[in-house]
Amino acid sequence: MIKVNFEKAEEIKNLSKHIDGAKTHISDLLAGKIDMTGWVDHPIKYDKEEFSRIKEVANEIKSEAEVLVSIGIGGSYLGAKAAIEYLSDYYSNRKGVEVIFVGNGLSEKYLKETLDYVEGKNFYVNVISKSGGTLEPAVAFDKFKALVEKKYGHDALKKRIIATTDKAKGILKEEADREGYRTFVVPDDIGGRYSVLSAVGLLPIACAGFDIDKLMNGAENARSIYTTLDENKNDAMKYAIIRNLYYENGKDIEVFATLSPNMQYFAEWLKQLFGESECKGNKGIFPASLNMTADLHSMGQLMQDGKRNMFETFIMIENDFDETRVKYNDKFFVNDLNDIALRATEKAHHTGNVPVIEIKVAEQNETTLGELFYFFEISCGISALILGVNPFNQPGVEEYKKNIKELLK
Ligand code: PA5
Repeated sequence: MIKVNFEKAEEIKNLSKHIDGAKTHISDLLAGKIDMTGWVDHPIKYDKEEFSRIKEVANEIKSEAEVLVSIGIGGSYLGAKAAIEYLSDYYSNRKGVEVIFVGNGLSEKYLKETLDYVEGKNFYVNVISKSGGTLEPAVAFDKFKALVEKKYGHDALKKRIIATTDKAKGILKEEADREGYRTFVVPDDIGGRYSVLSAVGLLPIACAGFDIDKLMNGAENARSIYTTLDENKNDAMKYAIIRNLYYENGKDIEVFATLSPNMQYFAEWLKQLFGESECKGNKGIFPASLNMTADLHSMGQLMQDGKRNMFETFIMIENDFDETRVKYNDKFFVNDLNDIALRATEKAHHTGNVPVIEIKVAEQNETTLGELFYFFEISCGISALILGVNPFNQPGVEEYKKNIKELLK
């Protein structure tokens, strides 16, 4: 269950300004009146047969391999990366295989060293691309496919490569059909940054040993709460409105603040979700992130005393962990100090005219992660629609892809 604390968000008193608009947008999302909104009902309508196959393939990989090489970029990797970090212990107790992400850049050194690292291990490859033709994953896929052939022989491609792509079209789909790779589908009506709860995110997350049933249950709970039209019961609607009210008052940067290192990629996922959905037509709130308390010692000055054009959204886990607690002294555990630092920071920033919103979940597990993914997806959709932009296209990204293709010619 997500708790949102708007206590320090003064704009809450002006909510009525956008309430009617927000309700219309939620109704339109639910009615499927807007393109690319398959994610809205996905937690209740997802393909159960494919879901079982994802679990079967993940079990095979976990029992046969040490490493899953997950190839993808943007929406085709950030959700899984965020989830695996959020759910994993820092050093021990790996529940499934090691998941390594490549194809999310063009660093030759990273590619080479990852190939060298994987070569000595027993590995499978999951190549993920909705379009099937994005440059960065295509380059990495070429190299890892060659490594599978070299290490296991041509016939092993069918077994060791799993393609997650469009159900019918694209270069990757054609190749998968020709070579006989197993495939999973990126649904037509779900864009990359909204796809974490489809096979795009689910296969790597399941291979890492996490419970994707619980993840989907969390998303389903969140769907039932955050699609309601009663503003007193729908904090996603309130959050979306408040973001817009801040924006109208000159606050055009939202800083997502997290409190533990394994939340950093969740913030990266949020940055893509909001940046790519909302920042269009010369409008939008720039999404930034801070990892507390480390960044207080590098960015604290700016937050406290820089240009007053930002607001801060804390994403907090109430019971950060319940085992092996570390005592600082007779009075405090280290986590208590984290809390105190957080309170001090919030107070200072609030006094420094950086409004603060708190978004809390009780525990860091699959269920709360499913809730958080859905909460932010729907908040982002409503917020961008209030702002008057289409949250579900990405003309800027397509422009980059087009330019790359031109230059490569
Ligand atoms: O959200 C998006 O649409 C993008 O970030 C894409 O996910 C990213 O560009 C990768 O595209 P593809 O999955 O087609 O390779």
